[in-house]
Amino acid sequence: MIVGRALQEQIQEAVEALRAGDLAAFPTETVYGLGANANNPDAVRKIFRLKGRPSTHPVIVHIDHPRYLQRWVRDMTPDAKKLADAFWPGPLTLVAKRALAVNDVITGGQDTVAIRVPNHPIAQQLLNAFGGGIAAPSANRYGHVSPTRAEHVREEFGDELKIVLDGGDCKVGLESTIVSCVGDGPRLLRPGSISLSQLRAIVPSIQAGPHPSAPRVPGSTARHYSPQTPVNVVPSRRLDQVISELSGEHEKTAVLAMRPPVRTTPYMTWVNAGNRPDIYAKQLYANLRTLDKAAAKIILVEEVPEGERWDAIRDRLKRAASAENIVTYDQDIAAWVAD
Ligand code: TXA
Ligand code: MG
Repeated sequence: MIVGRALQEQIQEAVEALRAGDLAAFPTETVYGLGANANNPDAVRKIFRLKGRPSTHPVIVHIDHPRYLQRWVRDMTPDAKKLADAFWPGPLTLVAKRALAVNDVITGGQDTVAIRVPNHPIAQQLLNAFGGGIAAPSANRYGHVSPTRAEHVREEFGDELKIVLDGGDCKVGLESTIVSCVGDGPRLLRPGSISLSQLRAIVPSIQAGPHPSAPRVPGSTARHYSPQTPVNVVPSRRLDQVISELSGEHEKTAVLAMRPPVRTTPYMTWVNAGNRPDIYAKQLYANLRTLDKAAAKIILVEEVPEGERWDAIRDRLKRAASAENIVTYDQDIAAWVAD
């Protein structure tokens, strides 16, 4: 948590930086965001430069309350309104038709805008004191693992980013659930801690996944959320066998499992993430960062169970273990993670 100067003072400093067109990172309940004044295209461009993110990838606009919606959104459909009422403030991002004044730099030139009302006291206070929209992607370099602690943000950007508000560990740990409410009906674009059945309890017609004919939204590409070390997802029943094969070859191995190791070896770094999806999710990115530092040849991840509560975790693991990132000693695994 915040140490040293009072939180209020730091929030005020962040507000001033945002007003001056500079960047400020801040915690949300999902992951840390890299914020800029959403009304200032030059400020938003700084986000893209610092992250190394392609300019066509749209960013989410954060507001503290739906009262600011009309500045950003042209048309909230009845479904979008119901979802906003049910889940805001919270880890839900809605994609809606953009208002005319929204700059192309935010939307990547698309006719839609993604908008979110986060439920984190520091994010809320910052947005409230700033009094407008803050454009913010996750506060990591393009393609890296998202940050869930202030120190992760500092690891990503070092001296290039002056202001990082510290809210400790993010509660959710995975990026927000994204629902598109444009086109032929509402669709779940990115799974998150709000599950499909929770969404369908409010809007029963929500479809899973983007429209088959929809153009791929930049940023939804397969390789994402990746550590530097190749990640490979292994079925539970094969984990020990794969580990012993690799340690037989004296390969340094890092393991993210749902249980403790059967035996330890000098070649292995093991993280037991347990079997509760909420805790697993909260710690996932910190665990991947830890394992990435183990100087291992590969990070083996024990496959997580089927079921809705694991969907968002499965999605992120699959992306972390993109096809191009795989050491293909096992074609079956390669096929599973590459599909
Ligand atoms: O939890 C979160 O959503 C975090 C915190 C900081 O709010 N933000 C976040 O932003 O994850 P980012 O930029 O890392 O991911 C946003 C995703 C991208 O995949 C982007 O393609 C998608 O949202 N997105 C943004 N605008 C969109 C739009 N108009 N239509 C469809 N997808 C959009
Ligand atoms: Mg991101």
